[in-house]
Amino acid sequence: MRILILGASGFVGSALHAQFAANHEVVGTSRGGHGLVPVDLADTGAVRALVGQGFDIVVHTAGVVDLGAAQRDPVAAYAANVAPMVPLLDAIGDAGAKLVYLSTDNVFDGTAEHYDESATRTPINVYGETKVAAEDLVLERDRHLVVRLPLVYGPSPLSNKFLARFATPEIQARTDIVCNPLYLPSLAPALAQLADEAGVVHIAGAETLSRYELMTRVRDHLAAPARVVATDRFSTVQDCPRPLRLVMRSIRHSLTGPDVNTALADLHWIRGHLLTLAKE
Ligand SMILES: NC(=O)c1ccc[n+]([C@@H]2O[C@H](COP(=O)([O-])OP(=O)(O)OC[C@H]3O[C@@H](n4cnc5c(N)ncnc54)[C@H](OP(=O)(O)O)[C@@H]3O)[C@@H](O)[C@H]2O)c1
Repeated sequence: MRILILGASGFVGSALHAQFAANHEVVGTSRGGHGLVPVDLADTGAVRALVGQGFDIVVHTAGVVDLGAAQRDPVAAYAANVAPMVPLLDAIGDAGAKLVYLSTDNVFDGTAEHYDESATRTPINVYGETKVAAEDLVLERDRHLVVRLPLVYGPSPLSNKFLARFATPEIQARTDIVCNPLYLPSLAPALAQLADEAGVVHIAGAETLSRYELMTRVRDHLAAPARVVATDRFSTVQDCPRPLRLVMRSIRHSLTGPDVNTALADLHWIRGHLLTLAKE
């Protein structure tokens, strides 16, 4: 299969790029660097030309993902996350390809016990609003797939944004934000199994825990130097409204990512690399 990954320099995109490349012909994009195809999604002509090169699947991971940044600059968030969608969908439709669009549990408000694919979306932050708007555009067309993810954690080839935190002196982590985080290496195999689906699917990890518990367990397992400091909505200045309980389930499939201990067993190799990460 020929696969195009938009945002292949990012945390999720570079992991998918590396894993899919083992079995498929994969092309990845970035706005610059890493030897990837340089494309800005705002350049609709370049996007059309690239998509027209003939791909079976386009995996869209690009855009503004930082919740605080989206809240501070909604215009930029909409420009990155929503405005490119119609030209992209038109190009994908004309090329006969299929889109796999990565979305988020932040489309929900965090007040329900759990959320499956049929749950009503009620975002409480700008990031979630942009993802709902983009999802709607994807779902207007048949055959494409929206994949909602929770917090994703683990190693990634080109972005150490999760693991590098453990090489810093202090990590602030919320005790009052709970989800079922997904171990990044488990995403590509799940997507491969769901590639023929259309509509919306949720992919999440097997265990529900707070950010504080996740960061503490990873820190302990890695024997990392970072001190994990417990925070909550009363002790921190909030840069953005954040849903407190985002537990995702699926009524469409039985795939889940591993529980945290299983994921950590896979992570043992990273221990010796933490000092390298700290220098990056
Ligand atoms: N990380 C998570 O925990 C998480 C959780 C739920 C859902 N998701 C979803 O997963 C996807 C990937 O997230 P991530 O954490 O991997 O994000 P990330 O590390 O910030 O990567 C974002 C990617 O988007 C690219 N990009 C940004 N603006 C662009 C533009 N205008 N044109 C072209 N490329 C652009 C960046 O490339 P350059 O900067 O190199 O151009 C980068 O490769 C997103 O759709 C996000 O909503 C992530």
